[in-house]
Amino acid sequence: MTEQVRNIFLEKFGTEPSVFFSPGRINLMGEHVDYNDGFVMPAAINHGIWFAIAKNDTPRARFFAADLDDYLLVDINDIQPQEGWKNYVLGVIHVLQENNLPVQGFDCAFGGNLPIGSGLSSSAAVECGLIFALNEIFQLGQDRKTLALMAQRAEHTFAGVKCGIMDQYASLMGKAGNVLLLDCKTIEHQYLPFELQDHVLVLLNSKVQHALAGGEYNVRRMQCTEGLDLIKQHEPSVKTFRDVSRNMLSKYELQMDPTVYKRCRYVVNEIDRTLQAADLLLQNNIEAFGKRMYETHQGLSKGFGVSCDELDFLVSEAAALQVTGARLMGGGFGGCTINIIRKEDRHQSISKIVSAYDEKFGTQPGIIEIDIANGTHEI
Ligand code: GLA
Repeated sequence: MTEQVRNIFLEKFGTEPSVFFSPGRINLMGEHVDYNDGFVMPAAINHGIWFAIAKNDTPRARFFAADLDDYLLVDINDIQPQEGWKNYVLGVIHVLQENNLPVQGFDCAFGGNLPIGSGLSSSAAVECGLIFALNEIFQLGQDRKTLALMAQRAEHTFAGVKCGIMDQYASLMGKAGNVLLLDCKTIEHQYLPFELQDHVLVLLNSKVQHALAGGEYNVRRMQCTEGLDLIKQHEPSVKTFRDVSRNMLSKYELQMDPTVYKRCRYVVNEIDRTLQAADLLLQNNIEAFGKRMYETHQGLSKGFGVSCDELDFLVSEAAALQVTGARLMGGGFGGCTINIIRKEDRHQSISKIVSAYDEKFGTQPGIIEIDIANGTHEI
């Protein structure tokens, strides 16, 4: 891909670019808790987006999105939201300018191998790749954490998705062979070594494309805030969901809208579960870890309401085949499930799930094998 994107750049813009890679991410545990001050366990993967980029000594930024065969030309001094993929790149320029970081004209061609809308965070890969590349070519001197926070802000303001910090953080901070245990309250992480011995990680793509910008994501976020605000009114010691226990939450059940209560219950459980899962991982207890994944899926489906028939089917088939662990991954409403499968059962389990899915939905799920890789870097 590096050569492909470099060649596309040469063909479109005719100068010599620098090339960067920015990965997508998986998340082992801790879903929809990043914006609730919880813990998450993501990792960068070896699928992502490549950027070829060079200054052009004009007041214009020119983009070529190779996978979409689409162009964008903007005046760097007049950055306004547009639509679709353009908002991810424009949001990045805008947030740098907002922070008084001087971006001048540049050319950029990008493309990759992350299926869009499949829960692998192609949007964060675009934002993080571009912000990292601009930081390098214009020597803006920002560290990776600051870049992650700015990329998140770009998504809030231009793409309109009030996402948490997980995706941008994982894309920029990922480390091969490790998952991150990220505390989203302090925005501090530790690396947990992740080398499976007897198991493999497999993603199954339902091929139902989600659209987080569709609004349901932001609705979930608002419901969580509503529930937390109600608790805060009665419990002065509570600042975030980290201060809310199951017992405390249940005291407010009758005062809360039932849907809001279900959302909050999921969040409190998932924060707890992610810490338990991190311990299990350190003990190399993958079978017990897998059970937590199923619990998370139940919570996401029944409590948090972000699953769909296709994802529920993939997970229930996995459970029926005694796959070690399976759950929907990322924002939900479509996209992938993440599965931890015993090596010896891998081929049989996957082919059974694929044919059952095909029979029910008339299409085969995509099988995506991934490796855990380093975060955004220059090639
Ligand atoms: C999307 C968001 C993340 C996170 C996940 C759900 O990927 O971008 O911030 O909230 O959904 O865990």
